[in-house]
Amino acid sequence: MANLLNVLEDKLAGKNVNIVLPEGEDERVLTAATQLQATDYVTPIVLGNKDKIQSLANDKGLDLANIEVIDPSTSELKSELVDAFVERRNGKATKEQAEELLDNVNYFGTMLVYTGKAAGLVSGAAHSTGDTVRPALQVIKTKPGVSKTSGIFFMMKGEEQYIFGDCAINPELDAQGLAEIAVESAKSAQSFGMEPKVAMLSFSTKGSAKSDDVTKVQDALKLAQDKVAEEQLDNVVIDGEFQFDAAIVPSVAEKKAPGAKIQGDANVFIFPSLEAGNIGYKIAQRLGGYDAVGPVLQGLNSPVNDLSRGCSIEDVYNLSIITAAQSLQ
Ligand SMILES: CC(C)(COP(=O)(O)OP(=O)(O)OC[C@H]1O[C@@H](n2cnc3c(N)ncnc32)[C@H](O)[C@@H]1OP(=O)(O)O)[C@@H](O)C(=O)NCCC(=O)NCCS
Repeated sequence: MANLLNVLEDKLAGKNVNIVLPEGEDERVLTAATQLQATDYVTPIVLGNKDKIQSLANDKGLDLANIEVIDPSTSELKSELVDAFVERRNGKATKEQAEELLDNVNYFGTMLVYTGKAAGLVSGAAHSTGDTVRPALQVIKTKPGVSKTSGIFFMMKGEEQYIFGDCAINPELDAQGLAEIAVESAKSAQSFGMEPKVAMLSFSTKGSAKSDDVTKVQDALKLAQDKVAEEQLDNVVIDGEFQFDAAIVPSVAEKKAPGAKIQGDANVFIFPSLEAGNIGYKIAQRLGGYDAVGPVLQGLNSPVNDLSRGCSIEDVYNLSIITAAQSLQ
């Protein structure tokens, strides 16, 4: 954990990246905002009702002197953002609907990012994943060549660092979607300084079981390998299908997957479904004692990231640093 953050903080030194924190009325978010403001990595923009935020700050002894606080319902930016929203939604929202939506802090914050007034957004301490990411999917949208955004977690303990995906976004995934997520996760791993060895996970290792679910992962593997070759991505290894033990334990890989390109040394794990991914990261976190940072969304035009509602102040701080780093890539 300390490793990744230290590397990112070094990259961000002196950059003062504007990150919008829509949930300024949440004590954890407001406290993290004051900590971020004290750095030269991130300059937070906090959203919410100004009186509520000031009274929370007074109660908790937080100094808001240098923090920009915007109330979406009274902000002079609102009409500009409403117009930009209507234009971006291109017939999918009327001006009246946009005015109502832009009272919502997540929509307002997302529009600050879309219009370039902030480089990224971190929310979700007080909102569901859907409510946090939907504005981004509608407005910021995916990068060219990416059809699905997905959510990865950095799982960290001591020197160990892994990526798990998709743990957050796509309830329905076909082989094509899985393949895309594998390639995007490899790129994310590289951009955070890892050399990706991507394992496509299943309950089968190299054909040991047969079912439609296994076939889907096998198809996804082929598509992902083709995509890596097509995009000429260097130093990316993708292999599968693996049970988790064959992907992470060399002696098991030797028995179950002799000759595979990954021999128990995978560091990026692609789960076959959102259920498996979401349950899997929580088991590693709660039983395995790994820090779980994320979900970090990949594939969007600008970074928007989602906190868990059980997040700590440290989680808000860390995800803001990661978001700022993504915005520089
Ligand atoms: C991500 C999620 C919020 C999308 O919700 P939704 O509002 O039902 O999505 P819709 O199908 O109405 O799509 C809304 C827009 O997002 C886009 N979209 C949806 N899923 C997308 C994805 N994975 N990647 C990119 N865009 C996506 C749609 O194309 C649509 O765009 P449009 O309005 O311009 O046509 C939903 O899939 C979800 O809730 N996923 C599970 C989240 C969760 O609970 N995770 C576990 C906890 S971490």
